[in-house]
Amino acid sequence: MKVLVTYSSGYGTTKEVAEKIAGILDQTHGLVVTVKSIDDVSGIQEFDGIIIGSSVRADRPLANVRDFFARYSSELAQKQLAIFAVCLAANSSEGCDRVKKEYIAQITAKYPRLKPICTQAFGGKIDFDQLNPVMQQLMKSVLKKIGIATEGSVDMRNWDLIEAWAVELREKLQKAA
Ligand SMILES: Cc1cc2nc3c(=O)[nH]c(=O)nc-3n(C[C@H](O)[C@H](O)[C@H](O)COP(=O)(O)O)c2cc1C
Repeated sequence: MKVLVTYSSGYGTTKEVAEKIAGILDQTHGLVVTVKSIDDVSGIQEFDGIIIGSSVRADRPLANVRDFFARYSSELAQKQLAIFAVCLAANSSEGCDRVKKEYIAQITAKYPRLKPICTQAFGGKIDFDQLNPVMQQLMKSVLKKIGIATEGSVDMRNWDLIEAWAVELREKLQKAA
């Protein structure tokens, strides 16, 4: 089975998560895995499985991910599909549930023919001092809502959770192959 892991990432956090997931999917015979930025994907016909990861800005998956779903929704309905989000709101199990219900569901509700085999939300990372003043202002309101300090650097990625999800996904893809 050919699997594409594709991601949209503003500052590299989601890219690193996608690469980790792709590395775990690749640890088996039978899955041939490609990992790519969503901006570099020019077609999905050759793939049987598509794993799509997005970070979140202002309560929405990134625009190029939304565009990707709009462009490929019919084709994606025929694939083994999994979706993950990486963001600060997913900093607890309740936060993960909220991200799945409020952010990932924006996509699944819009394209009801899509039946993902797995969806998941992972905590993200932010380096507040690296953001430009406009982004800092935007982030201040986001972080206040989530209840996280509005300075310094926070990395909320739980690599054990990411790895466990990738193993579960690998098993589902192997069964479907
Ligand atoms: C401008 C901006 C807006 C953000 N808005 C949200 C948000 O609404 N909810 C949230 O949980 N995280 C939000 N975040 C946090 C990012 O989703 C998080 O930092 C993520 O790890 C970034 O991943 P990336 O480097 O792959 O883009 C925002 C980050 C930025 C820079």
